[in-house]
Amino acid sequence: MKSYYFIFLSILSISFSAVTISSLSPVLPSNPYDYSTLNLPAHFTTDVPNSPLPTSINGLDNTPADNPITDNGATLGRVLFYDKALSANATISCSSCHQAENGFSDPATLSVGFDGGLTGRHSMTLINSRWYQRGRFFWDEREATLEEQVLMPFQDAVEMGLTLQELDSIVSNQSYYPQLFSNAFGDSNVTTDRIAKALSQFVRSIVSYTSKYDIGRAQVSGIGPNFPNFTAEENQGKQLFMQTIPNGGGACFACHTTEAFVSANPGPQNNGLDLVTTDPGAGTTFPNNPIFDARFKTSTLRNIELTAPYMHDGRFTTLEEVIEHYNSGIQAHPTLSVALTDANGDPVQLNFTETEKSALVAFLKTMTDNTLANDIKFSDPFISEFTFQGNIDTDYFLDENWDVGISPPKSFQGSIIIEADCIIDDSLPFDLPDCSELKITNSSTVTIK
Ligand code: HEC
Ligand code: HEC
Repeated sequence: MKSYYFIFLSILSISFSAVTISSLSPVLPSNPYDYSTLNLPAHFTTDVPNSPLPTSINGLDNTPADNPITDNGATLGRVLFYDKALSANATISCSSCHQAENGFSDPATLSVGFDGGLTGRHSMTLINSRWYQRGRFFWDEREATLEEQVLMPFQDAVEMGLTLQELDSIVSNQSYYPQLFSNAFGDSNVTTDRIAKALSQFVRSIVSYTSKYDIGRAQVSGIGPNFPNFTAEENQGKQLFMQTIPNGGGACFACHTTEAFVSANPGPQNNGLDLVTTDPGAGTTFPNNPIFDARFKTSTLRNIELTAPYMHDGRFTTLEEVIEHYNSGIQAHPTLSVALTDANGDPVQLNFTETEKSALVAFLKTMTDNTLANDIKFSDPFISEFTFQGNIDTDYFLDENWDVGISPPKSFQGSIIIEADCIIDDSLPFDLPDCSELKITNSSTVTIK
């Protein structure tokens, strides 16, 4: 009988497919997730002796004394981060443009705001924000602290379109916030300052230290030696990344520094994208010093495989294009960073072979951290239920126990089991279309008779 089902399931098709996500109160664990403990591997906190550049993250943390991460504070931050109510027409949240599965960036070159408008630059990853020692935020470093930065998207005319007063009043009017503010701050008063603090705590808690890179790094004494868990190609790419240019490398580590692969303190850099300024970047933020013209923040390369497209304008679609830029495309802009010039002050030509270019890409991919991408504590707390209307061919699957399943929205974290009103019995296939619209909840179960 069972093989019979399979045949019918695979030929039956319902003509529409959609997932409608209901807007609900956030679903949170009774004890908050742990955001405050950082179980960093030793290589994060121990500098490699005699290394010309710092390798540890010691002294880099931009967490201010008056806003340490607490589990309840970051929990409130998580809810604010995912709450679409906090935009002019209740359609956009921070997560619309900073998606966990895309390294907390956005696969769109420019992001779409609440009213369909486009942002001026490509969205940035939020990973390892806390280890940017200068503590400045945005590509052009225009905000001096994260606490100031996190209030800007709400007030941006394209992004979320609110005033701070409106923000406070919307937050105050949601039934779920008083308790969360009490847990985080001791009483239920909603203030802009508390919103900023909670969001900053959540953002600072997004750090990556469980990639293939970290597993290898933990087995050797420094960044230089071959990692036992790497392929020969990945180890070659690592050498090219770390080595200076005269030694045949790409000097990438000069700017993408430390185990967090985030710039240490030299400030915004010009990595040679344009011959003439197309976007003044940090030049607008620091108008009195011409060296900042066309310079941009160097954010982390952790999870870089997931954050395409690349650069402040998202001009490169793939990591291969990024590497080709450094290999042959660096432009002689007046503020080009010294690290990317040769002895004559001209842009470097790395002249990598195809093998070397592929090796660099392979190395960058060792920094992919799927634990972080899938960690429930960084996921959307609002999706706890959704209605599925599916295409049997593509959206249902049968596992080896003959359980019927469907593909939920990526961010859905409950266990998905189909509710009992979709009972498939021996009278298949004629009952199947009844299953086309299902209410899925965290506790639903499916029965196949
Ligand atoms: C409509 C899309 C959009 C929304 C909504 C949005 N952002 Fe962003 N975010 C961006 C873009 C684009 C940038 C880069 C802008 C720039 O540098 O000029 C950015 C940059 C940032 C940065 C700077 C990262 C760094 O390393 O400097 C942080 C932090 C950030 N956003 C957090 C948030 C938070 C928190 C929210 C919600 C309150 C939010 N964003 C909402 C698109 C968005
Ligand atoms: C002089 C400093 C410097 C050096 C050296 C350097 N980079 Fe960069 N890198 C930057 C800056 C600054 C940016 C952001 C530029 C922008 O968007 O305008 C960047 C961006 C990137 C990005 C895209 C990041 C994103 O989130 O979009 C990748 C990938 C990257 N670099 C890899 C490398 C590799 C690989 C090397 C070595 C071949 C290297 N970098 C060498 C400064 C540097």
